[in-house]
Amino acid sequence: MSNKQKESALIVSQQCIAADIYSMWIQTEKIASLAVSGQFISMYTKDGSKLLPRPISLCEIEKEKKQIRVVYRVTGDGTGTQQFSKLSKGDRIDILGPLGNGFPVDEAAGRKAVLIGGGIGVPPMLELAKQMPGEKVMVMGYRDEQFLTEEFKRQGRLYIATENGSAGTKGNVMDAIAENALTAEIIYACGPSPMLRAIKQYAEENNIVCYVSMEERMACGIGACLACVCQSKEIDGHSHVHNKRVCKDGPVFLSTEVEI
Ligand code: FAD
Ligand code: FES
Repeated sequence: MSNKQKESALIVSQQCIAADIYSMWIQTEKIASLAVSGQFISMYTKDGSKLLPRPISLCEIEKEKKQIRVVYRVTGDGTGTQQFSKLSKGDRIDILGPLGNGFPVDEAAGRKAVLIGGGIGVPPMLELAKQMPGEKVMVMGYRDEQFLTEEFKRQGRLYIATENGSAGTKGNVMDAIAENALTAEIIYACGPSPMLRAIKQYAEENNIVCYVSMEERMACGIGACLACVCQSKEIDGHSHVHNKRVCKDGPVFLSTEVEI
């Protein structure tokens, strides 16, 4: 069980940065000071019919300002994310975190790192890029409209893939890697399961160390309900079966540890 407390945090700003994509900065002394890239927070709605919180990754962590940034997609009418999008500067939101394990940044030392994000897996790669010393290449995949690209460009070389070919490579992140003949010694990736499955296969065929951040559906978010389990190679010490809880043991796993 988690000993973390829910916190009523102040919204510093909220902005729509692309169609259905919102960026929210939140003032939170405790989470900002503890958090590392790849962790997430649980965000609570005010609507009693939606008791379960929504897990959203940390996109940026400003420890000095004691602020965190989340970037999220509104998934539809009447959803939790739509409720979040209606909040403005000065409003408060209940959040819990930081949750999950985060990306092992030190593993990249002396290795050529490639950071890959797809869709709503793009935001957590920004804080990872900021934390990662040395040269890194970033490959971000979008359906159509891009977001956070200027921020990524400040961190290093950025390659883009769009499904409709409106920018960068037409296709997905694997097409962008092939088109630009990119090579890697370590990969960090976050995105939808089909993308992570393709990256896991590519990394294992080419003997590349690869960390994937999984975005399974969650309920409690703190390791108590087993709603988020994924299949693992090793037997889990908690459930004693071939399962890992994405919210507590992850969301970041070595690609060879998990089935995707
Ligand atoms: P609901 O009413 O719960 O569902 C609406 C639609 O969203 C349904 O079609 C449903 O299938 C789909 N959906 C719900 N949960 C997920 C999920 N986990 N993955 C994909 N589709 C889902 N989203 C972001 O936009 N930005 C992030 O940084 C981000 N980080 C995440 C980190 C983690 C560790 C996890 C587990 C998920 C993350 N997500 C992120 C996904 C986000 O949690 C869901 O989109 C959100 O919970 C949907 O809530 P809702 O109330 O809007 O939709
Ligand atoms: Fe409850 Fe992961 S969401 S154990």
